[in-house]
Amino acid sequence: MTATSDRRPVLSYFSTWILCVLGGLLLTSGTAKAQQSPAPPVDNCRTCHAQLDDRLGEPAKQFADDIHGTRGMTCASCHGGDPSEEDMEKSMSKAKGFRGVPKRNEIPQLCAKCHSDGAFMRAYNPSLRTDQLSQYRTSVHGKRLAAGDTRVAVCSDCHGIHKIRPASSPISTVYPQQIPNTCGRCHADAAHMKPYKIPTDQLLNYQASVHFEKLQGGDLAAPTCVTCHGNHGATPPGISSVERVCGTCHVFQEQLFDQSPHKTVWAAKKIPSCLTCHGNHAIKHTSDAMIGTGKDSFCMTCHTAGDNGGKTAGQISAALAGLDKSLADADAVLDSAEQKGMEVGEARVTLSTAHEKLIKARVDLHTMNSARVEETTKAGEKLAQQVNKEGVQALAEYAFRRKGLALSLVAIAFVVIFLWMLIRSLERPSAGSEAGRTGAS
Ligand code: HEC
Ligand code: HEC
Ligand code: HEC
Ligand code: HEC
Ligand code: HEC
Ligand code: HEC
Ligand code: HEC
Ligand code: HEC
Ligand code: HEC
Repeated sequence: MTATSDRRPVLSYFSTWILCVLGGLLLTSGTAKAQQSPAPPVDNCRTCHAQLDDRLGEPAKQFADDIHGTRGMTCASCHGGDPSEEDMEKSMSKAKGFRGVPKRNEIPQLCAKCHSDGAFMRAYNPSLRTDQLSQYRTSVHGKRLAAGDTRVAVCSDCHGIHKIRPASSPISTVYPQQIPNTCGRCHADAAHMKPYKIPTDQLLNYQASVHFEKLQGGDLAAPTCVTCHGNHGATPPGISSVERVCGTCHVFQEQLFDQSPHKTVWAAKKIPSCLTCHGNHAIKHTSDAMIGTGKDSFCMTCHTAGDNGGKTAGQISAALAGLDKSLADADAVLDSAEQKGMEVGEARVTLSTAHEKLIKARVDLHTMNSARVEETTKAGEKLAQQVNKEGVQALAEYAFRRKGLALSLVAIAFVVIFLWMLIRSLERPSAGSEAGRTGAS
């Protein structure tokens, strides 16, 4: 009996100890997993290379923040070899699959080993596309590479090599605001592009565009090189697809252009739509001077002031200028009424509706139909006149109130003078009685 009661604490001591150790083990492995998942593999490649200089050391230093480095991949994932070997000869031996530095024309295939493997990639990120290589093969870059030209872009030219970031990271080379320079590294380099005899001004022109201005201002809805050309399937949009590219964002202009007399004539002559007037890379802010018969007019490159196109241009230009002037006049009247303290809030609302008509008219002009534009500008004119009238009324009311004020001031002055005289006349007899009193004494 005593033996068993003696053994019990020993047993429970052991079981507690075992539980503690097991629990501890579970806990430590648990926290290790939470800190770094999956557990960091032994990577002697990285350890050794981190101690080397320049081109041998940089990759290991950069790899710490690379998406592949952070997701548990090793140098051997791309270069082959055995990262568990500390010895240089053994780890970098051909027998262990070491393939050294991949040649440029091998890179797409190397990256695609994982990136085209849907089952493999799903384990890391189920929403990531896995069509990069098949898309790339359809691009001018991919086709030329297949034909043996290694000056074209391969995966690592756009993404980097040892410091690759997710596309959503603002410091990624493929983040919208970084893309122009990523493409421009080759496309703006005249020496690099010399064999192809294509322009190298795309970056410079794009940087002068309204699209770049918006992009730099933080508007990620503005197109970059890849919005128009595609990323992996980068090819220049052909004449029919150019319209589609602009129209994906500027929907109304495209719809209205399709109703214009240019639509069929230009298609037959293979004249592209939007870019014939606006250009492609250096698209500028628009102005009313771009329509009409002046030197900045788009129309006069093909039409004369006397032909039907020229006449239409003149009519549209006059309609826009007319409404613009009416709006400015109405605005000036409201300004001066406001300065005089008059309440014109409602008229301001009407004025902004009138202004929207002008904006709409500038979109409508893509029909190249002056009647259509005039319909919109006339509606704007009507509102502008109404606002003008309300402003003038406010000013008249102000003038009326001023007259009223002057009249009432005069009246008040009369009353004051009258009261003063009254007080004086009341004071006089009391002065007399005073004199009487002094006379009596
Ligand atoms: C003990 C140090 C050490 C280890 C471990 C090591 N390397 Fe190296 N590695 C070197 C040195 C030194 C060089 C340059 C000399 C040479 O090319 O043989 C080099 C060269 C390279 C090069 C460039 C070859 C070239 O042709 O320019 C690559 C790529 C490379 N190593 C990748 C790896 C990978 C992948 C591993 C692991 C599987 C690895 N290294 C393991 C030291 C090491
Ligand atoms: C995602 C694939 C990938 C991973 C992972 C990777 N590399 Fe590379 N590495 C490349 C490619 C591709 C090149 C060739 C780039 C080129 O065309 O110059 C390269 C080139 C190199 C070079 C030659 C650099 C030069 O300028 O000549 C060295 C050295 C190197 N890698 C070492 C490493 C080390 C060390 C690691 C791990 C810390 C590593 N790489 C991880 C893809 C990778
Ligand atoms: C060993 C497999 C493997 C190889 C080889 C590989 N990758 Fe990856 N890559 C991955 C995995 C896994 C991820 C992480 C996906 C995640 O977690 O979002 C990734 C992520 C990326 C991302 C970020 C995607 C995003 O926007 O989230 C880019 C870009 C990328 N890789 C490019 C490359 C390039 C370029 C090469 C060739 C130089 C390459 N990869 C080679 C497996 C690989
Ligand atoms: C001409 C430049 C260019 C080349 C070449 C290129 N990419 Fe990309 N890649 C991009 C851009 C830009 C994005 C960002 C997505 C976007 O904004 O359209 C991207 C996105 C990615 C992504 C994130 C997922 C996705 O598809 O959006 C992965 C993964 C990727 N690329 C892998 C590759 C691989 C693998 C190759 C080679 C077969 C490659 N890329 C070649 C420009 C390029
Ligand atoms: C490594 C250099 C390099 C980079 C980076 C690069 N390209 Fe290219 N690209 C070329 C070369 C070389 C050609 C072949 C020119 C030709 O065939 O006319 C080309 C062809 C093109 C073409 C077809 C031009 C034509 O009409 O022939 C387009 C479009 C294009 N690239 C867009 C892009 C875009 C967009 C990017 C960035 C996402 C980019 N490129 C990044 C080198 C590069
Ligand atoms: C708003 C859309 C748009 C943007 C943004 C854009 N492009 Fe283009 N790009 C075009 C159109 C349209 C063409 C002409 C196609 C045609 O004439 O058939 C073109 C033509 C090209 C060509 C063929 C050679 C040439 O100049 O005609 C290259 C190369 C090119 N673009 C590269 C770029 C690069 C690099 C960027 C970014 C710096 C860029 N593009 C931005 C629409 C765009
Ligand atoms: C025949 C010449 C011509 C063609 C073709 C043309 N536009 Fe315009 N576009 C103009 C003129 C002129 C203006 C200036 C309106 C103003 O400010 O008075 C303009 C203005 C614009 C604006 C500025 C916003 C606005 O409406 O005020 C956008 C955006 C635009 N066009 C997009 C397009 C798109 C997209 C296409 C192709 C579907 C296209 N344009 C085709 C002549 C043209
Ligand atoms: C990805 C969407 C997108 C695409 C594609 C696109 N644009 Fe734009 N565009 C914008 C944004 C955003 C602005 C700036 C906001 C605005 O003024 O509407 C803009 C502004 C403009 C303006 C100047 C309007 C102004 O403020 O005076 C013109 C003109 C224009 N784009 C024409 C084009 C043409 C032509 C194409 C095709 C070659 C094109 N855009 C392709 C999004 C796009
Ligand atoms: C690239 C040359 C080109 C430009 C730029 C151009 N047009 Fe035209 N336009 C034509 C051609 C070609 C026709 C059909 C032949 C004709 O009637 O002159 C045409 C026809 C027209 C017509 C129909 C004429 C009729 O007889 O029914 C109108 C209206 C018109 N254009 C207005 C304009 C306006 C407004 C602009 C400027 C915003 C403009 N066009 C810019 C080439 C151009």
